[in-house]
Amino acid sequence: MKVAGRQYRSLWWSAEEGALQIIDQRWLPHDFRIDTVRTMDAFCDAIVQMRVRGAPLIGATAAYGMALAMAQDASDAALNAAYDRLHGTRPTAINLHWALDRARAALLPTAADARAAAALALAHQIADEDVEINRRIGQHGLPILREIAAAKPPGEPVRVLTHCNAGWIATVDWGTATSPLYQGHDAGIALHVWTDETRPRNQGALTAWELGSHGVPHAYVTDNAGGHLMQRGLVDLVITGTDRVTRTGDVCNKIGTYLKALAARDNGVPFYVALPSPTIDWTVSDGIAEIPIEERDPREVTHVQGATGDGIASVRVTPDGTPARNDAFDVTPARLVSAFITERGVAAASEQGLAALFPEMAARRA
Ligand code: MRU
Repeated sequence: MKVAGRQYRSLWWSAEEGALQIIDQRWLPHDFRIDTVRTMDAFCDAIVQMRVRGAPLIGATAAYGMALAMAQDASDAALNAAYDRLHGTRPTAINLHWALDRARAALLPTAADARAAAALALAHQIADEDVEINRRIGQHGLPILREIAAAKPPGEPVRVLTHCNAGWIATVDWGTATSPLYQGHDAGIALHVWTDETRPRNQGALTAWELGSHGVPHAYVTDNAGGHLMQRGLVDLVITGTDRVTRTGDVCNKIGTYLKALAARDNGVPFYVALPSPTIDWTVSDGIAEIPIEERDPREVTHVQGATGDGIASVRVTPDGTPARNDAFDVTPARLVSAFITERGVAAASEQGLAALFPEMAARRA
């Protein structure tokens, strides 16, 4: 997508440097900074500190991390060590494990002297596939927006609520939940997007930055506003992203997603999840019992980060020493999900719905 008139992906490989270029999301939405990731320590730090974040993006980053590791030492021991280090960075988003499993499976049978080139080619392939998957999610989401738009009085926008940032910077490009919004806006569908703040890391502000850069009308609201807006008839549909979906359709996503889904059900508002197939964990059937939920530093809850005018500062909002807990994700049961918008079309949120669209994946992983 474009930033200040220039086309970007959220990461790209620099052949001259033999390193990965990233948009450092710690500074967004206040400052657009590009950084170079050159070492395994820096790759792991980028994922852990959420300089890169969002399930598809951390998967692509990990694939490039494997490429860097293979360029330095292509032995089996180095391959397994890189896999283990990257695998341990964040536990919830399955795309990270999916990309690493795919890289290891491709590289172990490859001769050591061919591994560096093969790993880099695979990382490029994973990045390119992500862009195409997300573009298609947008295509399949468009009819949903069109249908709602057609039922509205002329001139009234389709009002969408989204949570967290499932935007282009959370993927290699397009985003998942935002892809139908960008493509709908470009196709002339009048939209208005509520981006909720998504404490503690305020990823909703990243979504506001993205939508603002693309000219999509939007407003930033508190995390607690969604249910109220739905009761007032101000939300036509919810679209969120996801970090891991079970084969039965349970959705793990940023903390607070579950409450939006409950409010949507109570108010008869459709609740869609934009789902790229690498985010499906075919090995898991009960999201609440089986998906590991990342617990992050409580300081992210007790403090907020923002722009001061002079720079970016972190300030404490609680009394000094207040205990806090920071569960980063929650699970929305499949029964609360209206449907998945995938790269192959719209699927019912059930084992049958997912298996019907992705039969070869369901059969392989069962
Ligand atoms: O902790 P984050 O910011 O990496 O969490 C991101 C989300 O929860 C997104 O909604 C999800 O990864 C989908 S991104 C297309």
